[in-house]
Amino acid sequence: MAAVLGTLSVNFLMFLRFFYPRALFEPKVKFRIGYPSDFGFGVDTKFQNQYRIWVVRNTEGIFVISAICTHLGCTPDWKPSENKFKCPCHGSGYDPEGVNFEGPAPRPMDRAHVELDPEGQIVVDLSHVYRWPKGEPSQFNEPGAIIRG
Ligand code: FES
Repeated sequence: MAAVLGTLSVNFLMFLRFFYPRALFEPKVKFRIGYPSDFGFGVDTKFQNQYRIWVVRNTEGIFVISAICTHLGCTPDWKPSENKFKCPCHGSGYDPEGVNFEGPAPRPMDRAHVELDPEGQIVVDLSHVYRWPKGEPSQFNEPGAIIRG
């Protein structure tokens, strides 16, 4: 009797499993992070784990760095005491604006597209990034790479 009930239970669970999608849930690529006034001067790491980004405010405005080392894709660490990002994999160093200055990284880290929605919140779009390839002009001053002010 136990064997029969066990078999029926397993079959029933397999039946239920059939209705769950076998989809891969990817992280969002477009999302809101709050108002410009939520971010002070410097590097904000509060979205590093959730979205793999850092929000940076400097004298020109606010921009979002994609937290992916341009060497082989590790996530660098923000080192406030040294005022730099340091990649734990092979030692690349980046300044607070994500520009490489030591190690094997070939270019600065990419910046995500940013814009304000009708409510005035910052919308980040990681499907559209701005780059500064070595020996080529920087895209960091293009509209959408920074929210000025
Ligand atoms: S992946 Fe960052 S230095 Fe190699």
